[in-house]
Formats: sequence, structure tokens, C-alpha cells
Amino acid sequence: MKAITKTFKNKQITIRPLASGDLKQPEKFRNFINSLVEEKALISRSKKVSVRQESIFLENSFKKQKNKRGAYLIAEDKTQDMVIGIADIVLSGNGARSHTGNMGVLVRKNYRGVGLGSCLLKEIIKLSKKELKPKLKIIRLSVFSANKPAIKLYRKFGFKKAAKIPGQFEYQGKLLDEIVMLLYL
Ligand SMILES: CC(C)(COP(=O)(O)OP(=O)(O)OC[C@H]1O[C@@H](n2cnc3c(N)ncnc32)[C@H](O)[C@@H]1OP(=O)(O)O)[C@@H](O)C(=O)NCCC(=O)NCCS
Repeated sequence: MKAITKTFKNKQITIRPLASGDLKQPEKFRNFINSLVEEKALISRSKKVSVRQESIFLENSFKKQKNKRGAYLIAEDKTQDMVIGIADIVLSGNGARSHTGNMGVLVRKNYRGVGLGSCLLKEIIKLSKKELKPKLKIIRLSVFSANKPAIKLYRKFGFKKAAKIPGQFEYQGKLLDEIVMLLYL
């Protein structure tokens, strides 16, 4: 996929696949994920990541993308030299689940509510359907039941609730429920 540039809230945002050059800039990605940890976003990561951890994550992700086991999209605000969104779909292992992919989507706080999450979702689904091998048949995701904006976004794309796992996430000292949602392609 070629990079696409779109305007969201008067800001020009580029959306593109993970690139080899990203492996040399783990700080940019670390800063992005840590901004979500700092705001206590309703995501499973609750501790900040180090540059080393981020570097390993990027290397593994890039390998998966090369092997067609994973698809990754990065949204950047070039004027700020900043990562502002990430979406990924990664196939689940090599066995009986390999027709399913786990999806994630994250958007930086000041860039939410203007359509970027929807755009990332649309593009990552399109890219994954085209690129991943074996062929992707089901997209799976996991979300805190309290994460209303995310659940609304997923429903908009046709994801259906498949399960609720009580108390699966520990968040700020409380046990919150996990919702598993599926999209059959
Ligand atoms: C969930 C998230 C990715 C949505 O990204 P976004 O860029 O704000 O999404 P969009 O602007 O495209 O909005 C998509 C839909 O989400 C819903 N939505 C967005 N903001 C919302 C809000 N504050 N309250 C309720 N629904 C909201 C709307 O249904 C919207 O669609 P519509 O505008 O057509 O009605 C973003 O809020 C985020 O990154 N949150 C923190 C990390 C996170 O929770 N990730 C998901 C983990 S499972």
C-alpha cells in the first residue's frame, strides 16, 4: 500500500504501512504508546514502555509484516514529526486459529473524534484482506466493556459481540469486563 494523506481537523495526516526506517526511531513510537499509558486509556497496557522494549516490538512487527503474518498502519502528523495513530491486525499463530487475526487501534488524545480511528480501521481491514497469508476470515478484538467510543466504532464497522469475560482486566485497582468482538469477512 502506498502512503495516503488526508486532512483531519485542518491537519494533514499521513497513513502508511510500517517502514524499515521506523526501526531506527523507536522513541517516536515509545512516546506515542506512553502518552496513552499516561492518560490511563482503557487499554490493556498500564505500564510505560522503554525504548528497548519498543525497539524489540517494532523489529518483531516488521518481520511479521514481511512474512505476511501481520499488517500495521502508522498515522503521522508530519508538521509535529509525531506518531498519532496505529492500527494493526496480526494472524493468530500457525495452527487452527491462523484464519483469524487480532486487531488493535489507537489514536493520540488530541486527534480523536474527527474520523481518524474510522479511517485507520477501514484501511487496516482492506490491507489485511489483501496482504495476509493464509487468507484472513475473521477479525477478532478485545475491548474493555467501559470503552464506549471504541465499542461504538467497532459496531459501526459491523463487529458483533461474541463474548463477555467478567473481571478480565485490572484497571486502576478495579476488575473490569472484557468484551470480545468478531467481524466475519
Ligand atoms: C477508540 C478510538 C480508536 C476511536 O478513534 P477516533 O479517531 O476518535 O474515532 P472516530 O473519530 O473515527 O470516531 C469513530 C466512532 O467512534 C464513536 N466515538 C468517537 N468518539 C466518541 C466519544 N467520545 N463517545 C462516544 N462515541 C465516540 C462514534 O461512533 C464515531 O463514529 P461517528 O462519528 O461516525 O458516529 C480512540 O478513541 C482511541 O484511540 N482511544 C484510546 C485507545 C483505545 O481505547 N483504543 C481501543 C482499544 S480496544
